[in-house]
Amino acid sequence: MDNGTQRIRRLNGTDEDLQVLAHALRAGNLAAIPTETVYGLAANAFDETACRRVFEVKGRPLIDPLIVHVTGIDHAETLAEVNDCARSLMKRYWPGPLTFVLKRRNNLPPIVSAGLPTVAVRCPGHPLTQKLLRICGLPLVGPSANRFGYISPTCAEHVENGLGDRIDFVLDGGPCNVGIESTILGLANPDHPVLFRPGAISREELSIALGREITLPDKRADSGPMDAPGMLSRHYSPHTPLTLFGAGEIPNRENPSAAKVAVIFFKHPDDDAPPWTQGADIFWFSESGQPSEAARNVFSLLRKLDTNGHERIFVQRSPSGGIGDAINDRLSRAASTTRR
Ligand code: TXA
Ligand code: MG
Repeated sequence: MDNGTQRIRRLNGTDEDLQVLAHALRAGNLAAIPTETVYGLAANAFDETACRRVFEVKGRPLIDPLIVHVTGIDHAETLAEVNDCARSLMKRYWPGPLTFVLKRRNNLPPIVSAGLPTVAVRCPGHPLTQKLLRICGLPLVGPSANRFGYISPTCAEHVENGLGDRIDFVLDGGPCNVGIESTILGLANPDHPVLFRPGAISREELSIALGREITLPDKRADSGPMDAPGMLSRHYSPHTPLTLFGAGEIPNRENPSAAKVAVIFFKHPDDDAPPWTQGADIFWFSESGQPSEAARNVFSLLRKLDTNGHERIFVQRSPSGGIGDAINDRLSRAASTTRR
């Protein structure tokens, strides 16, 4: 981005910075804030005009509801009906990368939930954002701080590159620890838990903790207000065409010498790169092969390769299970060429 158009200010989280941010948010302004998953675009959840600006700044359709960040269970109770199932999981996983979709109370402007009878609540684990939430004394909406459909930001620089000319502040809390967005669990009806979005806390783990099966959302909901638009088939997408391949698979490179190609392996290859990768630039998500390490690097590596002149990117899928399923979910959406 041309630095001349940037208006964003990067703040480091001193007490004075947090006061400035709290004041700005109370006055209806927007600010990007760090969480353990990805950076969020914060605004006062009670302020309809500020929330409308969040949709505009992101280029996000009004039918795609926002997540609301809270300080903890008591705060969540002021906005949503927290049933016993949700409470027991909140006690165990909050603050942390788990969002709950619950029946909402009537105190938030309907735009936050895109008119749905539910609201998504999450208590983020980043200490600076925890502190900011407490100083503000307000629930803060927090969609990922990127233009709608693009790759989520995992450091302050990503936010500056994507939204630098549209918002006033980014609170720099360093690179995000988890690196992909929170798991979203629908518990409006605790008898029928629904996994709206996979994340670091896996469906298997939650299913064991709840003692019941967790189903996937009904895709037919696509026709009305979305059940979880993060479920759109194309999302998190680089501009550069992206093709996935499995371990041991040889993808079709078509005309290999014609394009500048990047290949991302899941882990640092033990042996020489296979012959089909000849002439390509080679990268990997993880040095160790640990899925949690790979998750931290997925979005930043995709962003880097999307802006350094590669014409095609080939990406190896993660081994399945645990956070690997969430990585593969994001990669499939990034590779998809259909809108839903
Ligand atoms: O990790 C995260 O959750 C990050 C950080 C910043 O907190 N936030 C985030 O927000 O990923 P966003 O807006 O990019 O994704 C929120 C997802 C969307 O797919 C939205 O459709 C879904 O949550 N969602 C929000 N409210 C919902 C509701 N009432 N029912 C179902 N899905 C909902
Ligand atoms: Mg998002």
